[in-house]
Amino acid sequence: MVLVGASGSGKSAWARANYRAQEIVSSDDLRGIVGSGRHDLDASADAFRLLDDILAARARRGLTCVVDTVGLEQERRRGYLAVAKATGLPAVAVLFDAPAAVAKQRNALRDRPVPATALSAQLDRAAGVRAELEAEGWDEVVVLRSESSSVPRPAIEPQPPAEPDGLSFVLQVSRFPWGEDPAGWLRGIALAAHEAGFSGIALMDHLIQIPQVDRAWTPIPEPWVTLGMLAGLDTDLRLGTLVSPVTFRPPGITAKTVATLDAISGGRAFLGIGAGWWEREHAAYGVAFPPAAHRLDQLEVAIETIRALWSPGTKAYAGERVSLPESTCYPRPVSNVPIIVGGSGERRTLRIAARLADGCNLPCDESLDRRIAVLRRHCEQVGRDPDEVAVTVLDLPVVGRDRDEVWARVEQHRGPTTAAAFARTHHAGTPVEQRERYAALAERGVSTVFLSPVHLHAPEDVLALAPMLQ
Ligand code: CTP
Ligand code: MG
Repeated sequence: MVLVGASGSGKSAWARANYRAQEIVSSDDLRGIVGSGRHDLDASADAFRLLDDILAARARRGLTCVVDTVGLEQERRRGYLAVAKATGLPAVAVLFDAPAAVAKQRNALRDRPVPATALSAQLDRAAGVRAELEAEGWDEVVVLRSESSSVPRPAIEPQPPAEPDGLSFVLQVSRFPWGEDPAGWLRGIALAAHEAGFSGIALMDHLIQIPQVDRAWTPIPEPWVTLGMLAGLDTDLRLGTLVSPVTFRPPGITAKTVATLDAISGGRAFLGIGAGWWEREHAAYGVAFPPAAHRLDQLEVAIETIRALWSPGTKAYAGERVSLPESTCYPRPVSNVPIIVGGSGERRTLRIAARLADGCNLPCDESLDRRIAVLRRHCEQVGRDPDEVAVTVLDLPVVGRDRDEVWARVEQHRGPTTAAAFARTHHAGTPVEQRERYAALAERGVSTVFLSPVHLHAPEDVLALAPMLQ
């Protein structure tokens, strides 16, 4: 991002208000570092050389860099633009269009004003620079008008406030730093989720903590037992897994477990179910892990079995893949328990979801639109109304109150992944930015977001998400 404007047009003030100090590279600051002070013009050559180095280094890592110089020399701008193009980063020019009188007035108030003739020359240059910028090939040219000495405006004005209309949010808890008090920790998280406006809680179903989340020896509780405890709290949260591997339990046992949860929670259960993927946990616990095609067959059998056992009466069931001598399952679920298929295999998993499920959970990445389209196509092919199969996503954002906190959390959680890549895959941003993203997801046909914040240690972390949900 390259700032352009005469002295006193408000570039540095705006940069400070909208970006982290480390994201701004300023020729004045660098003169102060290598020269006798910010206005030591003899140090300019050294300062600009350093500026070029810093810009190149940050760009190489995909990190935001705000170039705070007067920006009126086309040759320099072209150089900055070339760095962005070479590293594949978007390049934005921000033109500060302050009235000459305002710039002069601000200049006069400074300890070391720019000489009047120099400022006039800059103001003349600035007046004609917009046309140059438009022709230079920036991805975006933003013009900020500064009428008076008002507080600088935010970088991206929320216009109009985005409404994630109709979306519901379920808190996905995947990490359990519960210390000495597992029940107390779970209770605190669940009550905070209720207070923050989540409609439910989902738990992962794994036997060993997965490497994407934490170390193998950190606790990962059996989900249905844990959900049973959460059902006893005074909330109206929906409760279920995202997702239970079909390999873990015979489907009839899952039907019994989920029916029981639904009955004791007053109809708040849901069942996420998938083919399973992690061989290691199966081996460690002595659970069979057949090839993928077989597991997908199991998934079809499981959904059919579960639905048979949840249907009214005790009659015998003879279906496509499953025959049962009776379907005596009491307590029966008290609600229409949604079955959500997790997984993104376009040929089979999405087809199973289209045929048999109430919802399909997809990863929240660049493949989403394509997979939604595939799911809808499967629905049409199997004669199912696409609106009957809800699209849900698993979203793992890094959320922070402001840019500083967002990036501190990226740094804290990124592990060996580069910060820029981690920030991108985890949609790092403030609540305002997340809301805009959710509004766009709702537009694209998503009905529920399973939200698994990367940073979730204590109830306060859950409460901090509230502004994104309402
Ligand atoms: N300022 C202000 N209101 C704004 C913008 C700036 O009162 N909307 C004030 C700043 O606090 C500062 C002066 O005006 O005292 C000049 O603003 P600055 O951001 O430093 O201007 P620059 O464009 O960065 O000027 P230079 O090129 O000289 O660094
Ligand atoms: Mg400045």
